[in-house]
Amino acid sequence: MHILHVVGARPNFMKAAPVLRALAGKSGVRRTPIRQTLVHTGQHYDRAMSHVFFQELEMPQPDCNLEVGSGSHAQQTAAILSAFEPVVLERKPDLVLVYGDVNSTVAAALVCAKLGVRVGHVEAGLRSRDRTMPEEINRLLTDQLSDLLFTPSADGDENLLREGVDASRIHFVGNVMIDTLVRLLPRAEQHRRTDLAAPYVLVTLHRPSNVDDLPWLRELLATLADLSRQLTVVFPVHPRTRQRLADLTRESASHPRLQLLDPLPYLDFMALQRYAALVISDSGGIQEETTFLGVPCLTVRENTERPVTITMGTNQLVGRDLQLLRAAANGILNRRSETGANENLTPCQVPLWDGHAAERIAEILLRPGPA
Ligand code: UD1
Repeated sequence: MHILHVVGARPNFMKAAPVLRALAGKSGVRRTPIRQTLVHTGQHYDRAMSHVFFQELEMPQPDCNLEVGSGSHAQQTAAILSAFEPVVLERKPDLVLVYGDVNSTVAAALVCAKLGVRVGHVEAGLRSRDRTMPEEINRLLTDQLSDLLFTPSADGDENLLREGVDASRIHFVGNVMIDTLVRLLPRAEQHRRTDLAAPYVLVTLHRPSNVDDLPWLRELLATLADLSRQLTVVFPVHPRTRQRLADLTRESASHPRLQLLDPLPYLDFMALQRYAALVISDSGGIQEETTFLGVPCLTVRENTERPVTITMGTNQLVGRDLQLLRAAANGILNRRSETGANENLTPCQVPLWDGHAAERIAEILLRPGPA
């Protein structure tokens, strides 16, 4: 069997890494005669957004890089469509695995569906029900185009069944991103910043709804600057956000405890997340990682495609309400000062977020007969 994996953007790498390992027989699954090909679309291309993850996650170098780079959604998606089709025709995989909800995911799935090549979607079934989010469009289409749907949580199965997907194609396997976290958390310990006194707040923002709206971004940054009067606020800045922040950063220069950093490698970021008193973010993956770690997270979005993070009690949506953001942040920080630092990890028990999701995917793919 020949399996071709497609990755393109930062959050794809930590999802594909454990599946590549499991299929290569590196995580306890029996060794099998599987041929694997790794294609990088080049959607993310900076060293800090791509290369460094291949090293830390111990991923093989891509067999080919389509080097599509940035562009509008249509340009980027179209560039992947035309560059990926010849790769599939030439390499003739039996199955293509796509990950998450980025433009590379939907573009690769569409190429395969048109060529009649089977597609498996890892992280299927998530729905925010907000079609203004590019990722929601990518999720809906990718799931419709896929033959095998690997879901991270039970809500994913429910969503797919409601949309008429046949139950035989849906496999509840758990969360592959958490596989990577479980494997590398001990190593991340060595990346703990000794110069950073607890408590501190960790921030990431990159969604167009937050960073492309400059007046809103200005208010958000002012709120973070206010928070930094109480404690250090560490903000590794995504390249998309960096462009928008150029002017606003000068305004925040008078807040020495608001640290605007370059994007961080995986292990540095994990170490920061693990010991943060609070995380403020608009990321999908960070909602999941904080839930696993038991770290409080305030999500600057109106909705989430990861409702389990809310029901587990670690994540709260604050939408576009800065008063709510301030009040919720203060509540969490006050409670923390009463209960002390979170030195002992008390992970939340989400079903199948156990470090073995990729092994389950491998078992399903390697079963005799059609998966
Ligand atoms: C993409 C995904 C998003 C994911 C995010 C994680 C889509 C629709 N969005 O958003 O779901 O959460 O990745 O990071 O696929 N840029 C660089 N260097 C890079 C990559 C991008 O400077 O290596 C800049 C470019 O100016 C580019 C902008 O960032 O125009 C946005 O990049 P893009 O890939 O379009 O989307 P992201 O915002 O990164």
